[in-house]
Amino acid sequence: VSAAHHHILVVDDEPNIRKLLSGVLEDEAYRVSVAAEGREAAAILADQAIDMILLDVQLPGEDGLSLLRRWSERDDAPPVMMMSGHATIDVAVQATQAGAIDFIEKPINAERLLVSIANGLRLRDLHRENRNLREVVRQTAGATGEIIGDSEPMARLREEIGRTAPTDARVLITGENGTGKELVARALHRDSDRKDRPFIKVNCAAIPSELLESELFGHERGAFTGAVAARRGKFELAQRGTLLLDEIGDMNPTTQAKLLRVLEEQEMERVGSEKTIRLDVRIFASTNQDLEQRIADGQFRQDLYHRLKVVPIHVAPLRERLGDATLLAEHYLAHFCSTMGRSPRNLGPDARQALAAYDWPGNVRELRNMMERLVIMTDGSEIAAADLVSLLSGVRRGPNPQTGTLADQLAAFEQQVVTQALENCAGNVAGAARQLGMDRANLHRKLKRLGLI
Ligand SMILES: Nc1ncnc2c1ncn2[C@@H]1O[C@H](COP(=O)(O)OP(=O)(O)OP(=O)(O)O)[C@@H](O)[C@H]1O
Ligand SMILES: [Mg+2]
Repeated sequence: VSAAHHHILVVDDEPNIRKLLSGVLEDEAYRVSVAAEGREAAAILADQAIDMILLDVQLPGEDGLSLLRRWSERDDAPPVMMMSGHATIDVAVQATQAGAIDFIEKPINAERLLVSIANGLRLRDLHRENRNLREVVRQTAGATGEIIGDSEPMARLREEIGRTAPTDARVLITGENGTGKELVARALHRDSDRKDRPFIKVNCAAIPSELLESELFGHERGAFTGAVAARRGKFELAQRGTLLLDEIGDMNPTTQAKLLRVLEEQEMERVGSEKTIRLDVRIFASTNQDLEQRIADGQFRQDLYHRLKVVPIHVAPLRERLGDATLLAEHYLAHFCSTMGRSPRNLGPDARQALAAYDWPGNVRELRNMMERLVIMTDGSEIAAADLVSLLSGVRRGPNPQTGTLADQLAAFEQQVVTQALENCAGNVAGAARQLGMDRANLHRKLKRLGLI
């Protein structure tokens, strides 16, 4: 990472020191901001992304140590290096204890300062990377790859996976956001002869179109400005394995044409190279777009579509298989309780009802996230519909004031759950009471109170 990306804040009341340090740092291509005291520094911290702070101990107003202590409480606090002209061991120890990464004595030795800054920034980058990796692990944890669901559409999906996996056929996986398309792709790979070879995914929407070709096919050194070294593309990385072209509907037309040719000929060249490489890569593509519509709009090539869609697999949205919502909820509830070291929880009857009354615009991903939040935000061994109310961001059916007091929102939600139960039982109160796990007389009273009978 070049210094040019790093922004350093110098806090010192001495104008000469600010000027000196700015000069030294700017010569090294750092971006520099300066402040004469704590409040000015805080204002800069509040609206700029600062990568490191050089902080003087003696400042007018709040002193450096006290600022350090306050700032380092924040989770995203940039690393702080303390500077002092009258350093005592005691102050240095206090600074280190409060989280300073280094302590530099004045007069400042520029060489030593720059080394220390470079080390501090490297450390900070590692911390960030570590945090990102932990997030990836958290997101994929418990993703054993097991496909949960016993609905009709899920049974059909399993059957399709079972038939298709052992072949070398290309598969086009379609379905809304969060329905499990990637899960299906991984299951197909896992159940194929290629399972011990790589499974590589490329997100065709996330990569700028100028870079996508090099990402897919790799490039030779000097193929374009910035190509300082040769690089293998995803196709080569997936040799003898499987390549998932995710969000294929967003691929730009030039890359579509190139991809088509590669699929037809099963060989490719790196960008900037003449050398042809034979490919043995199984291709999956997935999208949440209506590709036939994209073709009609002139955005997607029909010939490519037919090449990709040898076996089409559609993953149904959760609202078309609401029975699976309870199973999935239980699965993820158990998973998050165990990973967070909480005792097991279960869904009360009204919570089940609520899950099945919601239409899940974000599909399984939304449900999974909701279960995670539920485990974090609520207590008690049985989860009630009321626990879900605050989390269900937009129940689509029935009246649902998004504002108002908790009591109002609960009442609206209750009304909705009860109405749904009555609907399910064709207006039969005894049946609805059974479904809701309530006493019939109780439900009767509730219906009266809600003005439903
Ligand atoms: N049937 C299922 N059983 C268990 N977990 C599932 C199921 N379907 C989806 N999930 C989980 O839901 C999350 C979203 O699934 P996935 O990433 O496969 O969806 P997607 O269709 O690729 O979504 P997007 O279109 O947003 O990329 C993942 O954590 C996945 O493990
Ligand atoms: Mg996906």
